[in-house]
Amino acid sequence: MWHFRLWNVKDIAVFLSISLIMIHSAGAIVIDSSQRSLIRSVQEDVFFSVNVTCSGTPTIQWTFMSGAVSRAVGTWRPEVFTNITMDYSSRVRPYDNGSMVLLDLRLQDAGYYLISVEDSTGRSKELGFILKVNEVLYEDLQYLSVTALALFVLAGLLMLAMWLLHKACRRIEAWRRKRQMPGKEKGFLSDQTFKTE
Ligand SMILES: *[C@@H]1O[C@H](CO)[C@@H](O)[C@H](O)[C@H]1NC(C)=O
Ligand SMILES: *[C@@H]1O[C@H](CO)[C@@H](O)[C@H](O)[C@H]1NC(C)=O
Repeated sequence: MWHFRLWNVKDIAVFLSISLIMIHSAGAIVIDSSQRSLIRSVQEDVFFSVNVTCSGTPTIQWTFMSGAVSRAVGTWRPEVFTNITMDYSSRVRPYDNGSMVLLDLRLQDAGYYLISVEDSTGRSKELGFILKVNEVLYEDLQYLSVTALALFVLAGLLMLAMWLLHKACRRIEAWRRKRQMPGKEKGFLSDQTFKTE
């Protein structure tokens, strides 16, 4: 008996909460998105893909936040108006479903992007995205430094080789001179011996 009653109470509670959620979500704003943490490289584009559904035409607003910085990216209302902030006007493409493309990424674009959706009744909902921007230059710099080091070593080896060659040349010259000297002396001596004879 008790067991049954408990079950009923539980069932009723579940049923009530589900119907409450359903009533609440009727006409509510829904922001669908599959990926909210994005990683891109400098100069790449990023697509903040969302699909906004609500009653009436939504007003979509994107805001950028990073540390203490918070600035408006753009506000639009599909087929009514589009207002992209001056700093972003050349790099942002707005979409009717609330999505936004940010072109030609810079390191400073890394941060938190918030979409705020307001429906015709004035209710609003927000959803945040995190964007990481990687520096592609890093790999290039590493490559460059390795190349520079290799060139340095090569230059050092060349200088060493030149110094050694120079030294060898001088030695050879000295040795040649030494070899020529006794020859001359012999000649001289033989001349003398000739003269004396
Ligand atoms: C929003 O619209 C764009 C352009 O039509 C589309 O590429 C994107 O997939 C849409 N986003 C979602 C989450 O449906
Ligand atoms: C566009 O947005 C900016 C920044 O949010 C605001 O200062 C400006 O008044 C807006 N312009 C229009 C025409 O709504």
